[in-house]
Amino acid sequence: MKTKWKLLVVLNAVVFLIFILIATAFVTNRNTLTFTGIMLTTCLAIGTYSVYRKFIEPCDMPSEKDKKQLQEYVTHLEKEVELKTKKLDNTVKEFKVINEHLVKIATVVEQINKLSFAINTTLHLDEIFNTIADYARNLTSSEYCLMILTSEERNLSIGGTAGIPSQNHAINILQSNNGLCRKVIEDGRPIRLNNINGDGNVVGLRFEGLFVRDFMGVPFFSKGKTVGELVVLNKKEDDGFTMEDHEMLITLGNQAANAIESKKLQYVERETQLIVMIKMAQLAEKRDPETGGHIDRMRFYSRALAEEMRNFDNYKDMIDDNFVKSVFEASPLHDIGKVGIPDGILLKPRSLTKEEFEVMKQHTTIGGNILDGPPFLKTGKEIALWHHEKYNGAGYPHKLAGNEIPLCARIVALSDVYDAFTSKRVYKEEYSHEKALTYIKEEAGKHFDPDVVKAFLNRADEFIKIKEKNKN
Ligand SMILES: [Fe+2]
Ligand SMILES: [Fe+2]
Repeated sequence: MKTKWKLLVVLNAVVFLIFILIATAFVTNRNTLTFTGIMLTTCLAIGTYSVYRKFIEPCDMPSEKDKKQLQEYVTHLEKEVELKTKKLDNTVKEFKVINEHLVKIATVVEQINKLSFAINTTLHLDEIFNTIADYARNLTSSEYCLMILTSEERNLSIGGTAGIPSQNHAINILQSNNGLCRKVIEDGRPIRLNNINGDGNVVGLRFEGLFVRDFMGVPFFSKGKTVGELVVLNKKEDDGFTMEDHEMLITLGNQAANAIESKKLQYVERETQLIVMIKMAQLAEKRDPETGGHIDRMRFYSRALAEEMRNFDNYKDMIDDNFVKSVFEASPLHDIGKVGIPDGILLKPRSLTKEEFEVMKQHTTIGGNILDGPPFLKTGKEIALWHHEKYNGAGYPHKLAGNEIPLCARIVALSDVYDAFTSKRVYKEEYSHEKALTYIKEEAGKHFDPDVVKAFLNRADEFIKIKEKNKN
């Protein structure tokens, strides 16, 4: 810019100088050269002016109009930037909201999956109901949650709770037709009311310390009938229960309904299994009538041993409720294989010959084959097949030793021998408890697992009581 100005000044100075020189020449001597000089000077002046207008004025000195246009353009740009920034801010905010929502959904899905797992792995419905109530309370951020069940006669009862200060506090459901809990069941429709600020009468519930600010109850159904409802009370945040909470409760209610259905099926299946086992045990007993109450005593002896061993450190992880239960239920099946032993041997009133005993021993493998199949008979099969194995490997049919013999069979082996010892048989008299105790102690590590013997010694008094209660 500065260079252009300098150029202009120099150019003007040159023009002005030439003009003075020519003017002087013109005054002193008018001729053709002088005329040419005048023309040249004029051209130079016009050229200088053109250069000035074309290059310098437009660049260095914008017109007012240009300035105004420029200002308007800048203002427009500023507004555009402001608008875009606002839009970007909104998009970022929306994205944050969506992201938070997604995180929430992911958490809920995770929680529901955990809940489904808990439902599938828990046998007891009341435990499942308490777990569902706990999830419902947490996922809706409420103070209390109750699962209310209804019977065919529309009587209400509590299935599970969460947040009630103590399970010992009496929860009283008002059986009158009043109260929101009853209304949800009767109408089969959800109710969501915030800021009620009432007492238990409003909802039809009473327990110590109850004050109802917000209420939401969602029914759940099985085969088209209302079977219960999930109730949450008092949202922890000020704005009360939302539609999101409502949806959540519907999902959890469905879980409860599914749990009820699947547990009902499991219950029926379990009942069928029990009947099959009892019938089989009765079959075994009929085939061997001399044993009398042997089968009943076996159940209780074996259960006492399993329960006692559960207290031992090295069996804590191995023995659970299911193990104890299946030992109790399956121990009467230990001699079921006797159905395949000929009467001449099975009912022989004298001692068996060596050959006869070999046939008798086959009741173990026959029993194993009879019970080979459904998983619920697995414990029964192990007991029937291996209850005559010995800890030192001297038993039959497979000469298993130590922990090769399943624990259930090691337990039943002791129960069986104890009962045979302390009962009258065609080939022997009834021995005393003390004699059986001495024999079993001596056989620890030989016939019997030393840990099972230890459990027996701890529960020896209980064995006496069981025998007394279950005489022939
Ligand atoms: Fe046997
Ligand atoms: Fe037996």
